[in-house]
Amino acid sequence: MIKNRLNSVIIGATGYVGLDLVNILSKHPNIKIKHLCSQKNLGKRINSFDNRIKKKLPKLSNINKVDWKNLDIVFLSLPNGEAQKLINKLFFKYKNLKFIDLSADFRITDLNLYKKYYGKKHFANKLIKKSLYSITELSLTKLKKFRIIANPGCYPTSIQIPLIPLLKKKMIEPYNIIIDSKSGYSGAGKKYKLKFSYKNFELSTYGYAANKHRHEAELDQELKKINKNIKFIFNPHLIPTFRGILSSIYLVKKNNSSIDLIINELKKTYKKSSFVKIKKKNSPLGTGDVIHTNNCEISVCQSKEKNKIIIFSAIDNLIKGAAGQAVQNMNVMYGLKESKGIK
Ligand SMILES: NC(=O)c1ccc[n+]([C@@H]2O[C@H](COP(=O)([O-])OP(=O)(O)OC[C@H]3O[C@@H](n4cnc5c(N)ncnc54)[C@H](OP(=O)(O)O)[C@@H]3O)[C@@H](O)[C@H]2O)c1
Repeated sequence: MIKNRLNSVIIGATGYVGLDLVNILSKHPNIKIKHLCSQKNLGKRINSFDNRIKKKLPKLSNINKVDWKNLDIVFLSLPNGEAQKLINKLFFKYKNLKFIDLSADFRITDLNLYKKYYGKKHFANKLIKKSLYSITELSLTKLKKFRIIANPGCYPTSIQIPLIPLLKKKMIEPYNIIIDSKSGYSGAGKKYKLKFSYKNFELSTYGYAANKHRHEAELDQELKKINKNIKFIFNPHLIPTFRGILSSIYLVKKNNSSIDLIINELKKTYKKSSFVKIKKKNSPLGTGDVIHTNNCEISVCQSKEKNKIIIFSAIDNLIKGAAGQAVQNMNVMYGLKESKGIK
């Protein structure tokens, strides 16, 4: 039986994702925000960072000040490596607490791969086995059984929503998959200018990490659960806009498949979803169609070569790719309507 109000803390509240989380959760009818945590901005009011947030909320505090006993749900929106340390300390001590981690700490199950891609040792091996990697639409029946949710990466969300059903039904070839993704620069977090030596993000389209992007590890792990022979190229870009992702996915159809069957399969899979929308065949699609929403819009297009198709998939990286999906995951974990407080 769900409590009327879930007591929550948002850790990393002043980051790009954290602010979208606070914005959504401050209006959610089943949430009471008890603490907002930051590292450097202690004592400040959250609405001095984002004027969309109207509700009077607790001032920013250090995590040491959090009263864990009286909480239900912890949202962690921190740099990679931080959530595993904190959840390790809390998980066995506070057995009623549930955690939604928006970093990569619980996404990668192979610790060597985590070290290779994130340059850090993982200290919470036992807990990874107790966590669930969750694109909400694809894990509806599992979410209630877990206390730690690994919220997926933004690019992987836009890519897996269309790809997974088609791979499961063997409607596309598992080889030669080319994924060309474009993201607003908020995808790199509020310190994006410090993370790259490149200077003109707001004015240019920027290709990067073509040979080793972190999300490749997560994609490889999840897609190989469906077909271990999968082969793909993932080529990310940052574009001169603040938010939004458009992934263009180039695929070879199986001989017995057709573009209409593919569209029908996606429509069938997401028939009950509040957020995944399949457009008419060959529709144009842009990030402007989805920003500030938790939607994932998908358009399946015929290429000039008959056996090839192009799928466009658009999301808001900070909402369906992060904060919105985290709240969607929480809703299902607690038996609430999937879209509660998000639409
Ligand atoms: N940006 C995206 O599109 C996106 C999408 C999906 C997932 N993610 C993931 O979500 C997480 C947050 O991303 P972001 O883009 O919001 O990053 P960000 O803008 O850099 O924000 C990071 C936040 O973490 C806080 N912080 C850093 N170290 C801390 C510590 N030791 N204790 C408490 N707070 C600490 C910062 O607080 P102060 O500066 O106030 O101290 C800030 O609020 C990352 O793991 C990222 O990979 C991001």
